[in-house]
Amino acid sequence: MSIERRSEMLYLDNGATSYPKPEAVIESYAKYLREVGASPSRGGYETAIIAGRKVFETRMNISKLFGSSNPERIIFTKNATEALNLAIFGILSDGDSVVTTRMEHNAVIRPLMQLEREGKIKIHWAKLTDRGRLDIEHLFELISSNKVKLVITTGMANVTGVVVPFWEIGKFCRERDILYLVDGAQLAGSYPVNVEEDFIDLLAFTGHKSLYGVPGTGGLYIGDRAEKHIKPLIWGGTGGYSELPDMPDLIPDKYEAGTPNTPGIVALGEGVRWLLEKGVESIHLHKKELLRIVLDGLKKIDGVNLFGPDDDVDRSSTIPFTIDDIKPQKIAQLLWNRYKIAIRAGLHCAPHIHQDLGAPDGTARLSFGAFNTKEDAEYAIAAVEEIAKEQK
Ligand SMILES: Cc1ncc(COP(=O)(O)O)c(C=O)c1O
Repeated sequence: MSIERRSEMLYLDNGATSYPKPEAVIESYAKYLREVGASPSRGGYETAIIAGRKVFETRMNISKLFGSSNPERIIFTKNATEALNLAIFGILSDGDSVVTTRMEHNAVIRPLMQLEREGKIKIHWAKLTDRGRLDIEHLFELISSNKVKLVITTGMANVTGVVVPFWEIGKFCRERDILYLVDGAQLAGSYPVNVEEDFIDLLAFTGHKSLYGVPGTGGLYIGDRAEKHIKPLIWGGTGGYSELPDMPDLIPDKYEAGTPNTPGIVALGEGVRWLLEKGVESIHLHKKELLRIVLDGLKKIDGVNLFGPDDDVDRSSTIPFTIDDIKPQKIAQLLWNRYKIAIRAGLHCAPHIHQDLGAPDGTARLSFGAFNTKEDAEYAIAAVEEIAKEQK
């Protein structure tokens, strides 16, 4: 007997971008455009001042979420990719060495490889274990045996939902006076992080994933140690200090040239406010419960191959899998066409981890968000089971 199919979409692509968004996020975006509309820090009239205040409120909320004592250390960018480019190109120069991991997204891999191609830097890649966790001993060894300027790791892998022990790496780097950059695109809002207690110098984040904001928003936390080394990615107008030929030497202005995505930043502030109310820890526990259900369910299905750790320790609800003899893209197509389940298939912009996990052609990835339920998890398992059985 086949399962009862849903007529409404089941969105399980939260690793790409979260959906749906909290109502307050949508409302604040429209309200800003309808009632405020002005550019922040670019006028003395009431709506310009309101715009500036709203942008600052978002900075404060994000700063609180990340445990930073200074909201000015939150620099807005258009996404995590731009934030990572700012950190990487802003810090590294000729002759530098970098340690990173085989778990990274192309937002880290490509800027680094560009610098390496130009002959400027040397990259050292830390290995993964069989089940796709970071081989932290190898990472430490690479740091200890090279003269390293910057260590970059993801906070949470976008393919497996594995949390990298950034607090241990941060401590290790701090003790050696090495800068530590965390790609928090998946981590931010999914797992608790405290930049000061975890010794993180730079934390890149994106607004549209687990911070429940809108696309076109993101940013970089720049700690005081990193601030001494990092040059801007973009030069231009900052609203004030127009007489200076160079960027003003103060944060956040130095790194925020040009008119920002004000409605997006305002909406992001609401997403973060919503998160702070719910609590990142409780959302993480909810997603972990979904992870357990899905791991247990998929494990029992003949022909289904699961990638990533077998357990739920320090892991979120992002689950890569394949089915024997069906291409990942075909799985995604069947899930959508028959069951209205939206997932992503392929390499998810992370080619190295797929090679290391033994899935060089990619995986189908289920990624659950805060709004998903146990029923959603069970429906997804049943759909995958039906597809796998048909293949037999
Ligand atoms: C781990 C990781 N890093 C970086 C990015 C890039 O984020 P964005 O596309 O918002 O710049 C992503 C997005 O999928 C990601 O998962």
